Amino acid sequence: MASDLLQQLRLNGPVPRHVAVIMDGNGRWARERGRPREFGHRAGMRAVREAVEAAGDAGVEVLTLFAFSQENWHRPQGEVAALMTLLELYVRKERRELKEKGVEVHAVGQLHLLGPRTRAAIQSIVEHTRGGTKLKLNLAISYGSRAEIVHAARRLAERVREGTLMPGEIDEELFAEHLYTPGDPDPDLLIRTSGEMRISNFMLWQLAYTELHVSPVLWPDFTREHFFAALLEYQQRERRFGRVLAT
Ligand code: FPP
Repeated sequence: MASDLLQQLRLNGPVPRHVAVIMDGNGRWARERGRPREFGHRAGMRAVREAVEAAGDAGVEVLTLFAFSQENWHRPQGEVAALMTLLELYVRKERRELKEKGVEVHAVGQLHLLGPRTRAAIQSIVEHTRGGTKLKLNLAISYGSRAEIVHAARRLAERVREGTLMPGEIDEELFAEHLYTPGDPDPDLLIRTSGEMRISNFMLWQLAYTELHVSPVLWPDFTREHFFAALLEYQQRERRFGRVLAT
């Protein structure tokens, strides 16, 4: 039961500060039921709600969800439109509760590519939830990690051109501050659902030392119990960051 898992998590000690999730398998979930892909995405939205709640309850500080990739723009127009409508619906349905629960929503990605209605919805949830201290929720939308890295490089190059930065001053810390997630700890745990063993252009810089948890469960079926089980498994791992641990 979820409450037992949560109790076990607390007994074990520290939970990951930052959990990132590649929510995969909505399409297959729908196909298994003979329904259109949009049906799977809608069910995926319920799983988003559950994951956000679970992260907050477990004491995770930052949850980053890969909601829409740069590559997803190449999906059929109808599916893209359905995903945008779902994001808007999510904002309408969840905004108040997220605020009440102390969840601060951020959006990361090439948001200028979104249509005005979706952009306005995202902006409204970001503004409405500002100041929440329980959980930071990063929604990666129109997101691609290589584009993020190029964007950071460009901003640093501009500062060099302006004369406010010397090339030799650029180090890993400064570079990270110019990504979309300044101030966030790197993810401790990446969860990917539906069994695919890929990173799919997601947080390539930030995931350097992240522990990976690949679940065979399709995203719409990924429950609070699955989320806690992933955290429990993480707590059993020995993180070495490329070093040898003292014995
Ligand atoms: C991957 O499944 C999932 C997506 C491309 C979209 C994720 C969107 C949601 C979970 C719902 C809306 C999100 C929010 C934050 C409200 P897939 O379509 O690639 O599945 P497949 O690999 O089985 O085809």
